[in-house]
Amino acid sequence: MEKNKIKIGLIGLGTVGTGVFKTLQPYENIEITKVAVKNINKPRNIENFDNSILTTDCYEVVNDPEIDIVCELIGGVEPAFSLIKKAIENGKHIVTANKELLAKHGEELFNFAEKHNKVILYEAAIAGGIPLIMPIKTILAGNKINKIEAILNGTTNYILTKMDVQGASYADVLKEAQGLGYAETDPTGDVEGFDAAYKITTLATIAFKKRIKLENVYREGITNVRAQDMLAANDLGYKIKLIASAKLDENGNADVRVHPMLISKKSTLAHIDYVTNAVSLSGHPVGSITLSGPGAGEFPTASSVIGDILAIAAELGKTDYLLPMMRCCHDETANCIDVKDTINKYYISINAKNNKGVIGKIGTICAENDISLASIVQRCVSEDNTADITVITELVQEKNMQNAIKQIEQDGNIVNSLIRVQV
Ligand code: HSE
Repeated sequence: MEKNKIKIGLIGLGTVGTGVFKTLQPYENIEITKVAVKNINKPRNIENFDNSILTTDCYEVVNDPEIDIVCELIGGVEPAFSLIKKAIENGKHIVTANKELLAKHGEELFNFAEKHNKVILYEAAIAGGIPLIMPIKTILAGNKINKIEAILNGTTNYILTKMDVQGASYADVLKEAQGLGYAETDPTGDVEGFDAAYKITTLATIAFKKRIKLENVYREGITNVRAQDMLAANDLGYKIKLIASAKLDENGNADVRVHPMLISKKSTLAHIDYVTNAVSLSGHPVGSITLSGPGAGEFPTASSVIGDILAIAAELGKTDYLLPMMRCCHDETANCIDVKDTINKYYISINAKNNKGVIGKIGTICAENDISLASIVQRCVSEDNTADITVITELVQEKNMQNAIKQIEQDGNIVNSLIRVQV
């Protein structure tokens, strides 16, 4: 007698959906029976593809009584949000790669799924092919994780790596990356740090076991990073990376952010280049670990989607209550620290007129704002009679640093860059 196959409904057959489809084709116990797409007539790069399973109506997938698991791969908030809720109401488990939806509506969706005794799995939503969510929930479950530093966006890491290697400007590298298909035509979501912010919101929620609200995540993109900053950072023993970080202090307050950061060349993250992603986690008792790998792409992301599908498939029919580690409800919402109250080290690049006492004045302003300097470098005076002064501070409160920057600018200098430094 033929065993009952587990039936999957796919919403979206783009890059990741295609990878999922191709990888599941040889499975005998799992079958993708319906796929919702925008355009039925688009040629599909899948061997032996049966077009009759395609529909342009996503509700045909979520309302199909035969389907056990709905796999949402269209991204964005709507219609994904409504489709997932409808699918859950209809008794389906969900696998999704939708980081924006989870960051914005995770709490509501996970509570909704819990109420209906269904699960939403999302390994593919954070760092594509790197296994993170299940390892944190299973083999690392005994840890108190209190720090994450991660490269969660391949596009920005590609751009920063190219700027570093070629000494090229952000604008030139972006254009080149768009030409090669590494950056979107509208790159805002990646280069302004939204994508990384969505990912760290959910990742920190899982790691800290407290819900992090997206609106409390501080975010800065890479558009102001200059080729000169890359050079200066290199000279000082650092690389510049877009870092998504989350820290939990001893009182349980969270500090979650995305911004460019000078990373010591001795640190693993400094050597994560091009589109590769990496996540460093620190906790007790494990200490520090770094997981790295492809953060996007057809097959790496499909690997995570399929892992989630198989995890649910293994449980289906055995019990009416799926494993608790698959659930994602949190009673507690983290209190998040405002960035102005955080303590950081800073790299500052100042363009100053070649007047006597300029460096002394910058030092005085810093001292008046309780800022101690670790290093100050001026290499030469340019033809236009200005000089670039590079400063690295010791640990400083953000609001003091912002005050000092205002005063340095009021004094007639131009502050070209202010980038936080890894501590
Ligand atoms: N756009 C993302 C990146 C991949 O560049 O890493 C999908 O999250």
